[in-house]
Amino acid sequence: MLTPDQKAECQRRLLEWYGRAKRDLPWRDVDDPYAVLVSEMMLQQTQVATAIPYFERFMATFPTISDLASAHADDVLHCWQGLGYYSRARNLHRAAIRAVDGFDGELPDTVEELRSLPGVGPYTAGAVASIAFRKPAPVVDANVARVLARVFAVPGDPKSGPTSRALWAHAGELLSHAAPHDWNSALMELGALVCRTPTPACDECPIADLCTARARGETERYPELPRRTPPIAVEDVAVLVERGSRVALVRRPEGGRWAGLWELPRVRREDGEALADAALRAPMQVCGLSVRDARPFGAIRHTITRYRVRLYGFRATSQGGDPIPVTCADAQWVDVDAIGSYALASPQRKLLRLAWTAEDALPLR
Ligand code: ADE
Repeated sequence: MLTPDQKAECQRRLLEWYGRAKRDLPWRDVDDPYAVLVSEMMLQQTQVATAIPYFERFMATFPTISDLASAHADDVLHCWQGLGYYSRARNLHRAAIRAVDGFDGELPDTVEELRSLPGVGPYTAGAVASIAFRKPAPVVDANVARVLARVFAVPGDPKSGPTSRALWAHAGELLSHAAPHDWNSALMELGALVCRTPTPACDECPIADLCTARARGETERYPELPRRTPPIAVEDVAVLVERGSRVALVRRPEGGRWAGLWELPRVRREDGEALADAALRAPMQVCGLSVRDARPFGAIRHTITRYRVRLYGFRATSQGGDPIPVTCADAQWVDVDAIGSYALASPQRKLLRLAWTAEDALPLR
């Protein structure tokens, strides 16, 4: 715990540092709660540098909350293409529709009402309430958790219930009621720029002398992160089924990973299954297409949650007939020139690029 004097000193110094050191980011100092919501939804699972061009494109495509609410869900997904965690895009779209239907086209300004919007949890609600509406709401994201875990030497995994509650309680106690929006941004900025992982730059920290972990020489002990479980290696086979200048694209079903996005028919290789057999199975199983002459063109690697995936690409010729939704939600012949207008997950785009260039291919095994 800090004494009242220490708390006031901590607030003064951190706010002064923020005024001096803050990065010029496109969602900062904009007087638009919708822009703050878009940025915070993006920043939930994406690094700042990656989010910037997406944020700028998203705001240019859907400049207001009513533009977003009236957009087609496919166009929203397309704008999010490559950013990952696509449920954020679907939720943001639904949140805009809810704001238009239920809040007169404005975002609500209380944490409770914000939390009633799809995809808006305690962090995003606190960030929007404080940053957009200057409400005295605390926030704890990974950056803030690291700062607070060190300043107050909070043991445990920040994602676990008791530790998370302790960190939120500290965030609430330390919050500047005079400048909640700058205060929360300052804590995030300190975590991003100075109080980094694994080694903080304490000599640049304006509140280093108030930090318990530093006083104990234990900054690297906090926050305690759970030991990572090793990734599970799997192999997927995706097939580019060609008919003239068109290829078969299938849409991922609702509710699962990459829901609503498009891809080449793809299956997981089974134990002991030959790659070529998986390549014949994929189009039939996913969209009822019978193919011949499946020829490998390469493979890429990608990681998704706890899976390390080797994704093999095959080319094959359709035996006739049209693709139909079997295990997918939709299936179409798509002209090669039109693929760019479909939202594809990053590994699929990478695989398609490989199909057209066949460079950078991993060796087939
Ligand atoms: N991470 C989450 N929210 C952020 C923000 N508003 N600015 C910078 N990084 C962030």
